[in-house]
Amino acid sequence: MDNMMMFLSPEMLRNRYQIYAQMRSMQPVMHLEDYGLWLAFGYDDVKYILSDYTNFSSDYSRMGTTGGNLAQAQIQQTAGGNLGTSLISTDPPRHRQLRDLVSRAFTPRAVANLEARIVRLTHQMLDAVIAQGEIDLIGDLAYPLPVVVISEMLGVPPEDRDQFKRWSDLVVASADNFLPGDTISAADLADQVEANHQMQAYFHRILQERRAAPQDDLVSGLIAAEIDGQKLSEDDILAFCMLLLVAGNVTTTNLIGNGVLALLEHPEESARLAAHPELWPAAIEEVLRYQSPVQAMFRIAARDSELGGQKVREGDRMLAWIGSANRDEKKFPEPDRFDIGRDPNPHIAFGFGIHYCLGAPLARLEARLVLPIIFDRLTGLQRKDHEPLEITKGIILHGVTSLPLVFAPGEPKVIEK
Ligand code: HEM
Repeated sequence: MDNMMMFLSPEMLRNRYQIYAQMRSMQPVMHLEDYGLWLAFGYDDVKYILSDYTNFSSDYSRMGTTGGNLAQAQIQQTAGGNLGTSLISTDPPRHRQLRDLVSRAFTPRAVANLEARIVRLTHQMLDAVIAQGEIDLIGDLAYPLPVVVISEMLGVPPEDRDQFKRWSDLVVASADNFLPGDTISAADLADQVEANHQMQAYFHRILQERRAAPQDDLVSGLIAAEIDGQKLSEDDILAFCMLLLVAGNVTTTNLIGNGVLALLEHPEESARLAAHPELWPAAIEEVLRYQSPVQAMFRIAARDSELGGQKVREGDRMLAWIGSANRDEKKFPEPDRFDIGRDPNPHIAFGFGIHYCLGAPLARLEARLVLPIIFDRLTGLQRKDHEPLEITKGIILHGVTSLPLVFAPGEPKVIEK
């Protein structure tokens, strides 16, 4: 099989950790010349690629279309077009400027303020299924929850939330088509482009409303943010709002889903947690390492350089395998063991360096609140059957598309909605 196709195959997705381990021992840096693509699997190389922005740029517009496909080019120009200028795809000095400005609004306090709301939403979502003793953990909770949290944070009014979620689903889907070989139908592409336009128009309206009457939400904070007379333009704010949807939703879904699955697959570790609830924060860090929700990130070589003793050429694409770095035996003793007390645990699931995940405190907060509630309320929680689970499409994100579980039926908790 063509090397690239091997990395896109369902087989790879199912056996990813075995394949990573083979790559780390045999070919930790792999050059796929035909695609102008490099794959890096070792912890140090992955960290280096993610953080050395002088050699490796995040400006995805430099990727061009060589070796890619038409859909990718179209998406960059249309559906996900405005992501091209967002925080995650800029380099310094522009990146520093944007990050400082958005950090004025996306503060630890703004995140901590969401705590009570996240707890309540979780209980409501569990209340809807608790009497029937069955849940699809993804569809009923892990997927909708982060979308609602982000829409509330942004200030999307409750009556617009369903519409917002539909757009958000389509925008998220548009970010999944990044690799050569990925295909997307013309109809799906048209839907994504349309959703993107509608959502931009929607945010444009919210922005105008907040300019006229600021509220206590993220959009108002982004409008007000100013450093040395510099402010965010309307395009910057739109791009950032769209980025939050793409970067913050399915990633958090995967963290919650992968966390529940890892704990069900390791009953001894669940028992340890039940006896020592103070281990929850460490357990969540271990889920992030053991089943990293984001398995890889791209960079583009900004100039000629060297990697693993080989010559990298300007314009080459770099794929840094975070999921492999987090299982590197040189860094983590017994890397394939799920150990909720692992200490130290220097995983790089949220990236490393200047692009380190801005939403990490929010993702951690959601997981720390939601996971204990799930295990506390759903007594005797277990897989509904032992059918193989469907894995999410694409190689960047890592999770399951649905996770049917059963438990002993219980009583609803939150009465009023
Ligand atoms: C478990 C959940 C999450 C994981 C595993 C994750 C992972 C990552 C990773 C690996 C990066 C680095 C990208 C790079 O180096 O190019 C990143 C960046 C980013 N993430 Fe997250 N993320 C998660 C949740 C969130 C949430 C909840 C939000 C916001 C609501 C968010 C917003 C962002 C933003 C804005 C960036 C770009 C930062 C920059 O370029 O300076 N993420 N994330």
